[in-house]
Amino acid sequence: MTLIERWTTALDKLRVQGRYRQFALPSGIDFTSNDYLGYANRPSLTLQAPGHLSHSGSASRLLRGHHAIWDEVEASLSAWHGAESALMMTSGYAANEGLISTLMEPGDWVAGDELNHACIVDGLRLARCRRFNYRHNDLNHLEEGLRAEAERNEPGRQRFILTESVFSMDGDKAPLREIADLADRYGAYLIVDEAHSTGCYGPTGSGCIDEAGIRSKVLASMHTGGKALALPGAYIVGSRLLKEYLTNKCRHLIFTTALPPAVGSWWVEGLARVQQDASSRGRLHENTTQFRKELSARGILAGGTEYVVPVIVGEDTPAVAAATSLQKQGFDVRAIRPPSVPLGTSRLRISIHADHDPATLVRLAGGVADALHD
Ligand SMILES: Cc1ncc(COP(=O)(O)O)c(C=O)c1O
Repeated sequence: MTLIERWTTALDKLRVQGRYRQFALPSGIDFTSNDYLGYANRPSLTLQAPGHLSHSGSASRLLRGHHAIWDEVEASLSAWHGAESALMMTSGYAANEGLISTLMEPGDWVAGDELNHACIVDGLRLARCRRFNYRHNDLNHLEEGLRAEAERNEPGRQRFILTESVFSMDGDKAPLREIADLADRYGAYLIVDEAHSTGCYGPTGSGCIDEAGIRSKVLASMHTGGKALALPGAYIVGSRLLKEYLTNKCRHLIFTTALPPAVGSWWVEGLARVQQDASSRGRLHENTTQFRKELSARGILAGGTEYVVPVIVGEDTPAVAAATSLQKQGFDVRAIRPPSVPLGTSRLRISIHADHDPATLVRLAGGVADALHD
């Protein structure tokens, strides 16, 4: 088989499976992006960067890509989370993959929720450590794994637990306090991906770890700007020593071009905004409650509890058909298919935002009911 044949065969197979992917321009009311607080379309961020911030440095942060603005942003991030340090990264994907592949070594043991994001899985692949996938949010299964591993009692081998705090495709929360207790009990280090909770939880929006008051029990957390904060880039929170170690060892930081300093000025402004914006957080959670009620009033069983609202369809083709039907009604809802979700669980993933209005949520719930019965 030639290379061209390999590609065309693979693409044809995806078409037949209903899993072919292509770009689609945004149109209709946004129920698909992760702009939970409704910031993406607010023109308040400084669009024109001040002159001294506009050049990129065009280098790794370890070379000429570092600028004073990043010290300012990282100081503000660590203060926000009540932690010793924060480290900016170019994306959440790079942050997770870099963090995990740097900290975990062959021989170490890692328990990860089976629904953890692809970039956590890819970090683990790079780390080549021993892996235990526990059933989604199942504390008993996690404890079983921890107990068996503790009994092996191999000196020098570290144990870690990896979980998201709000799951990206299932819209439920991890029982963080209980997981942190298990980590304590079995001598494991806890790492939490706060991609979907940063901005949305806690009195100032700093996420679920801070809301649960367990910062001191977490080795590291990963937060992306690309979702509720509507900012490019991501960051890792942890101890000063963790930052020093990553700065020296993390290939995803060292061998990539730094974000332009102009982006740093957006972060300064964006962080000030989100910390004071309890009202958008309040509206987000009210809208979520209302929309979930509207769905259940129509007999639609949605998964999870949060502003990511999955409606499981099952097979790929009907999930795409349901999304297309909603798009025709003016709602930008997309179907999520494997490998983003497990086989047979293709779904509509409806993302609720703070700036959706109640009447639109009622119309959408009706639209979902129609789309599922078409
Ligand atoms: C749970 C989770 N972690 C990490 C990422 C990656 O973040 P970013 O989009 O900033 O690369 C995503 C984005 O899809 C995510 O959903």
